[in-house]
Amino acid sequence: KGCKLVGCGSAVPALQISNDDLSKMVDTNDEWISVRTGIRRRRVLSGKDNLTSLAVEAARKALEMAKVDPDDLDLILMCTSTPEDLFGSAPQIQKQLGCKTNPLSYDITAACSGFVLGLISAACHIRGGGFNNVLVIGADALSRYVDWTDRGTCILFGDAAGAVLVQACNSEEDGLFGFDLHSDGSGQRHLNASIKENESNNALDSNGSVVGFPPKQSSYSCIQMNGKEVFRFAVRCVPQSIESALQKAGLPASSIDWLLLHQANQRIIDAVATRLELPSERVISNLANYGNTSAASIPLALDEAVRSGKVKAGQTIATAGFGAGLTWGSAILRW
Ligand code: ACO
Repeated sequence: KGCKLVGCGSAVPALQISNDDLSKMVDTNDEWISVRTGIRRRRVLSGKDNLTSLAVEAARKALEMAKVDPDDLDLILMCTSTPEDLFGSAPQIQKQLGCKTNPLSYDITAACSGFVLGLISAACHIRGGGFNNVLVIGADALSRYVDWTDRGTCILFGDAAGAVLVQACNSEEDGLFGFDLHSDGSGQRHLNASIKENESNNALDSNGSVVGFPPKQSSYSCIQMNGKEVFRFAVRCVPQSIESALQKAGLPASSIDWLLLHQANQRIIDAVATRLELPSERVISNLANYGNTSAASIPLALDEAVRSGKVKAGQTIATAGFGAGLTWGSAILRW
């Protein structure tokens, strides 16, 4: 059984924060940020905006493009590391889309690799049988976990949602040619937003009495990042992963029409393109306008590229996500 991408959509919050705006909050400037990252502005949740409603808006647009009714969905995968419910946000999306058939919906947590993992998971569900229309959403609101006094991280992130509809098809139409997925927990120290220590450490004292119970309400620390290590990891692992996915697909790098990486840093994107010997005309980049939107960045950039007519039906896309975990992975797709 094959699977193909038949629709995409995206949504961003209304509030835009420019590099100049940030330079009024922390010791930075537009030149430093744009030269080191390529980012000029980002969107941030505010007021009554929330991540679930962005995800629903992106999902509706993808369903509309695919001409698929919400009642015909078999599965909704919400790829996010910033859910609005610790128990999972996908069922709320299912509810707000109004799917009367109660399709299975669950969250996938893999930071900036989440969308690629969601895409491969959708394909595995379809190929395993029983699922025909799978909605894959990538949505994150890292602005809620950023330390807005830390100039090393607050300049990087933005909030957004993107979605694609993956549909079962016959094997001749198959649009997922090869993939490659990895994780390395030993790199977690380089990038994390961990639960705060000593807030839930129940223990027995020397008399066997319980101390620290009941636990205090838990919370997570802001994003902690060693930018240089994450940069090195990305430029080392992403080209290898794409090469491995190409090998599994039996395709040369020259067959790639578009390189669509997780939008973290323009220098990472350029370094990967150079390693794969792909000219800049074949590279999709929109991080100047949105910054790093984590699991949303790939479907957001795909949606813009498809709707602007840049990416055309039948073209081959090499996509890759990478980030916290550490996690990374790539997929060779046909739009
Ligand atoms: N404005 C001005 N100066 C700054 C800023 C800023 N916003 N941030 C740091 N600096 C200063 C530092 O203090 C340092 O000063 P010093 O030399 O006096 O000590 C200098 O600039 C260089 O800082 P570095 O951190 O070494 O800068 P670097 O060139 O590594 O760039 C950056 C930092 C942009 C974060 C880069 O390392 C990067 O993009 N790494 C990848 C990060 C990434 O992609 N993370 C997300 C992964 S996705 C996910 O899963 C969430």
